[in-house]
Parts: sequence; structure tokens; C-alpha cells
Amino acid sequence: MPIPDSFLQELAERNPIEEVVAEYVPLTKRSGQNLFGLCPFHSEKTPSFSVSPSKQIYHCFGCGKGGSVINFIMDIENLSFRDAVEFLARRAGMTVPDDGLDPGRPRRDRLYALNREAARFFYSRLVEPGGESAQRYLERRQISPQFARRFGLGYAPDSWDSLTNAMKEKGFTERELAEAGLVKHGKRGGVYDIFRGRLMFPVIDVRGQVVAFSGRLLGDGEPKYLNTPDTPVFSKSHNLFGLNLAKKSKSGYIILVEGNIDVVSLHQAGFDSAVASLGTSLTPEQARLLSRYTHEIVISYDADEAGRKAAQRAIGLLDKLELRVRVLTVRGAKDPDEFIKSRGADAFRALLESSENHIDYRIDTARAKYDLKSDEGKLGFLKEATDIVSTLPNAVEREVYSARVAELCSVSEGAVKSEVERLRRRRSSRERRTLERELRPVRASQPQVKGITYKDPRSAAAEEGVIRLLCLDPSLFAGREGLGEEDFSSEELYHIYSALRRRIDAGESLSPAAMSGELKPEELSLLTGILQKPESAANGARALGDYIGIMRGSRSAPEPSEEGVMELWERMKKEKRG
Ligand code: UTP
Ligand code: MN
Repeated sequence: MPIPDSFLQELAERNPIEEVVAEYVPLTKRSGQNLFGLCPFHSEKTPSFSVSPSKQIYHCFGCGKGGSVINFIMDIENLSFRDAVEFLARRAGMTVPDDGLDPGRPRRDRLYALNREAARFFYSRLVEPGGESAQRYLERRQISPQFARRFGLGYAPDSWDSLTNAMKEKGFTERELAEAGLVKHGKRGGVYDIFRGRLMFPVIDVRGQVVAFSGRLLGDGEPKYLNTPDTPVFSKSHNLFGLNLAKKSKSGYIILVEGNIDVVSLHQAGFDSAVASLGTSLTPEQARLLSRYTHEIVISYDADEAGRKAAQRAIGLLDKLELRVRVLTVRGAKDPDEFIKSRGADAFRALLESSENHIDYRIDTARAKYDLKSDEGKLGFLKEATDIVSTLPNAVEREVYSARVAELCSVSEGAVKSEVERLRRRRSSRERRTLERELRPVRASQPQVKGITYKDPRSAAAEEGVIRLLCLDPSLFAGREGLGEEDFSSEELYHIYSALRRRIDAGESLSPAAMSGELKPEELSLLTGILQKPESAANGARALGDYIGIMRGSRSAPEPSEEGVMELWERMKKEKRG
């Protein structure tokens, strides 16, 4: 069941787009009614990202993205439509109507709410009187109050029932507490707090919900960390600590570390894409989750033998998903946290820039696949290995590894080298071609939205005009027969048109929030782009006639009158300037 328009509209009203966007992008008023800022979806130096408080939409004149507040959250938080709605509902204290499809949901929603309250409780215990020991611990680990807050760190007092009592007061039952993995049943009935005297790290999923906790002792002792067991809302193998923040990073890669403290420490040092795998070695599910947010992983595990082995395993998993993998070893320190504390952020950045791609590992893997004693095996290995070596950007490195490959299957070095260079030339010309394609200036008449092209740009300009008029003055369309799919030069334009018409005929809302429930994100981007261009309803009937004339004229119907075309031409020229 779709979410009703009325709900989406209220959701948008209670989450004004200018407020929500401002939480991510500094906005300034430049001229007129719109607010401007640097687009969070592409890199730019002058602001072309606009937010219209009156229309409740955003639109980037640079990259063409746009839509309602819901689309904005989908984009910036990387969420599905439904999850973005949930996200905004939480922000505004609303509850999304149950779609009735998932009988376990009400129960899980209770657990999410409980975890959230528990996180609040731990946070307040940290910052209020009584939290001094934990505060001192944070100071000793050089975690600033600002970053403690960003990660929602907290303190579980050294008590058997303080969390239990606080949560009961909020209306949660012992059963729910046990289900959330926050308490255990005692021998003589009743329950007791599991986390006692620990620094608490909430685990927040990519949808922004608190799903679990990881608690570290303030001093020495065993176990150093205690983690929430798997619950109906948490599976350790499917979550990564810090991904809720890292997924928003613009760095282009994700740094995978072992410890929670490493994550906080890296973020604080400016590496905002660090995540940790919650004390397990990386699982296939976690690898897949990572691949949704990045193409490149930098593994920076502890510098010991265990860390090295874990890295090898992780590389195997990440390689299967065709992620680019680099390995960063913090020599001379136990882990990234210690490294940053002793050598500073710049030293870590230098390591990051020079970190090895895992070429040795990949050559070894390829070698293990083939029997190098047979000619067939040699050939297979050579093919794979030369391909791997040809990806190395550095010529000296290519020489070194070509020699190694040659030795491994006892062929001449020269043969391997020339094959590597041939592959390399082929690759770079292919890359250049793609680059050229991407950089080619967009023709003004083509939409900026990725993945949408107009088959007939001239007609499309008129189709866009029809859509603008439809939003501006639906009464123009009263009694007119509808346009058909064949009248439109792109599927998306027709889909937008028919959604708008259907809504008008049914007396439904045309608000951006409601539309974002029905149109695909690209279509909404297209629509907001279309609506940015000027259109006057003053001469609407005439304009509509002209537009339709052009649409049909460019196929079979009679040409519109001379005058009409001239007017339209003027209008389009103005639009281009506008
Ligand atoms: P580490 O021992 O490297 O912890 O374990 P750390 O986070 O770097 O902490 P410091 O720097 O020693 O204070 C790495 C991760 O393994 C999990 C935790 O998630 C930890 O962050 N772990 C560790 C456990 O789950 N249980 C443990 O007893 C120890
Ligand atoms: Mn560690």
C-alpha cells in the first residue's frame, strides 16, 4: 500500500525543506526568494544549488538534481523512498502509517524506540554529574566532547538497574528490554542491566536508527568490549560501526578499521569515512553493504599478524564485489588511533596517499588458480596477471611486477612487458573516450538529468512547456483530450505528464512531496528542472496551443501558424537566457 498523499504532505510541512537542507548544506539568501549553497551532489566552487521555500523544492542548476524534501533525504542519506519517509517522520515526531505488509514491524518499531531512549539515557549519564570517570576516560583517549556527541557516545553507570528503571519509567517492559539485548534475566526473577560501568558506542544503521550498543570498559579488564547480541533489529554481521556517518563522506573511499575507537579517532582527525566491523572479521554481508556506498575501500587494520590475516580475508571478499582495495599499514603503531595520536593526521594522510594497492595479493590469487606446469595454465595465468599489472599507474612498478610474472611462468620478461603496455594503452584510450563523453558540453536542449535523453529536443522543449502550464494553470486543460504517449519524445516526460493529469482529474495534490511518492527520483529531478524555467500563465491558452502544435507538428499534424512559431521561438530564447 502506498503512503497516502495526505501523510506525505503533512510530513513535508513539518520538515520545511529549507530547514532540512540547512542541516547538511550552508545556505545563503542571494536574490529573490531562493536560497543558494554549494551542491552536495557534485563538486563545485560557486553555488548553483537552490532551495525554494515557497515551492518546497530544491534544484541544482549544475548537476540537474532536484525534488522535494523527501528526494533530498533519499539522495543525501542514500535511502529508499520508504526509508526516507521514515527518516523524516522520526525527525518530526510522526509515525508512518503501517503498510500492513510486515506483521513484525510494530514490535521492531518498539525496539528501535527503546534503543533510541537507551542511547539518550547513556548520553545524559555521560554529560551529567556522575559521568566524570567516563569524561576523564574520553579526555585520556583524546576524544573531544564534540565528537563524543557526533557519535552519540554515552556512559552506562556501574549499576545493576539504572537503565532498567529509566526505561520502565518511559513505558518499556522487561520483556522488551530483554528482547533488545539490554538486560538479562536474573536467577531469582527480574532483570539486570548488561552494560555496567562502560563507555557506550551506539551502533546506528544507515537509516539512522539506533540498533545496538558496543560498550568498552573504562579501564583494563575482561571482556574489554561487550556488544548487543543479535536481536530482531540487529545482526552483527550486517552492520558496520560508523557507516551512518561514513556514507555521507565525499572522500570517495571508505576506510575500514578494526576498532570503534579507531573510527572515532579517524573521524576526529578529518577522515570522515572510517567504519569498523564490530569485532568480527568482515562478513560478505558487510562487504555488500559497503559496496552500496563506495567503489574503493582502504583497509587499515591493526599492525599485528592478526590484523594482516584479517586484511587478506577482507580483500578476498571485497575483490569479489569488484571494489578497488588498498591496504594501509600503520607501521610503528598498534592501530590507526595510536598512529594518529603519535604522528598526527598529516602523517596518516600521507600513508593514505601512498597506500599500496594489493597487487601482490592479486597476483598470488591468480597464480593459485592455474597449474603453471601446463601450457594452458600458463596462458590463463599470463592473461590475468598482465591485466592486473597493467592497472599499475607507475611505470617502474609495472616493470618490477612484469619481471615477477615472467619468472613465475618462465617466459621472457620482454614479452610480458610488451603485453602489459599494450593492455595499458588499450585501457587508457578507453578511459579517455568515456571521459570525453562525460565532459562533452550538454546541449542546452537536452535535460541535465543523468540517464534521460530526449529523442526529439525540439518537441521536448514544447512538451516541457505543456508540463509547466499544467502545474501553473490546470484549468487550461479542462475539457481538452489528453495527450498520448506517442506525443512525447521521452518516456519520462510522458510519465510526468500523465501523473500530473491523473492527479488533477482526481483532485489530488500536486505538492512536490506527494509527487515524489509517485515519480522516480530522476523524473522528479527532471520535473523540478522544468519548473525552474520561466513560463507565464497570462497567455496560457495560446501557449498551450503552440506547444501542442509543435509536438504534433514535429511528427505529422499540420504546422502551427507562422505567428505562433515566432512567439514560441522568442519564448524559448528567453528561457535559455533565464
Ligand atoms: P580492539 O581491542 O582493537 O579495540 O578491538 P579498540 O576499539 O581499538 O580499543 P582500544 O584502542 O584498545 O581501547 C577491535 C574491536 O573488536 C571488538 C570491538 O568492536 C573493538 O572495537 N571487540 C574487542 C569485542 O567485540 N570484544 C572484545 O572483547 C574486544
Ligand atoms: Mn585497537
